[in-house]
Amino acid sequence: MVEVQKFDTLNDEDINLYRISNKTGAYVEILNYGGIIKSICIPDKNGMLVDVIIGFENINNYIKAERGYFGAIVGRYANRIKNATFTLNNETYQLAKNDGNNHLHGGYNGFDKRIWEVEILEQENGIRLGLLSKHMDENYPGNLNVSVKYIFDDMNSLTIHYEAWSDADTILNLTNHAYFNLGGHNSGHIGNTLLKINADGYLPTDNELIPLGNIAKVEGTVFDFRNYRRICEGLDSYDPQILLAKGYDHNFVLDKNQGNYAASCYCEETGIKMDCFTDMPGLQLYTGNFIDIDFYGKESYVYKRQEGFCLETQYFPNSINNPEWLQPILGKNEKYDSITSYAFSIIQ
Ligand code: BGC
Repeated sequence: MVEVQKFDTLNDEDINLYRISNKTGAYVEILNYGGIIKSICIPDKNGMLVDVIIGFENINNYIKAERGYFGAIVGRYANRIKNATFTLNNETYQLAKNDGNNHLHGGYNGFDKRIWEVEILEQENGIRLGLLSKHMDENYPGNLNVSVKYIFDDMNSLTIHYEAWSDADTILNLTNHAYFNLGGHNSGHIGNTLLKINADGYLPTDNELIPLGNIAKVEGTVFDFRNYRRICEGLDSYDPQILLAKGYDHNFVLDKNQGNYAASCYCEETGIKMDCFTDMPGLQLYTGNFIDIDFYGKESYVYKRQEGFCLETQYFPNSINNPEWLQPILGKNEKYDSITSYAFSIIQ
């Protein structure tokens, strides 16, 4: 069931909240602003609903926290592009340098800051968000039509289906930037969360968090999540890559031998487990190292550093400048079509 209510007003426009509930009473809440996932409320091992998403109660606070991209759809290009420039069909494009010398998450006015059109999908139990991004929007070529569906099923699985079409060759790398805390959004540091990632390799970065270009083996490092490991083991370590990024802020090279399975994580206190599936080649683990907020989040909680983590499915960061990697190119009149899902369950 999908219910709509007014969430807030921005420049005289209504910002609406869409609550997608399933038969068990669990629900997901989405805003038409940024396509933000505001909440995911699912039962814990005692059957109590727990909200596992970091977020805010009004649009002003989302805007104040915009550098955190809380819960938002990120585009056109999620993650970083070195020197904010790329070349396509012999044409060089200069994008916004909104992260030092580099481009981050689509620029100053990315998809996270747009008001999306919304269509309710009763049959599928979800909503479809639509956006037209004009040719040279944030300096990216092509008129781009974007559609993002959020579907929440009775098994407590949230599926995000990204589709897009462009009338000229362009680049595109869409993701969602939800911060999860499986202990509950206001339960504090995520260090005790157990995490498993289906990856033998990851992308080490320079001090601007741009991948160096090589794929490093996770074996023998705190990046080895092939078996469950507590996130704090890495966060507390002196691994040079962790020190450089002030935590995990790295892309994992997903092993595709197990299909679309990407990662699992769980919290012992609530028993809540989340599995992530994607057809994308990369998974950015970001442990909220830069969360620095001095105003209220949901339920008047003030979020601190590393109180949520993101599992952002995507093409590798700066892949457009690394031709040997899978290219984030969307050809003229081709279809961008990608699915990521976050499936929740309980471990007793
Ligand atoms: C990036 C971080 C960045 C954050 C912004 C993440 O996806 O990897 O480096 O600071 O987004 O909230």
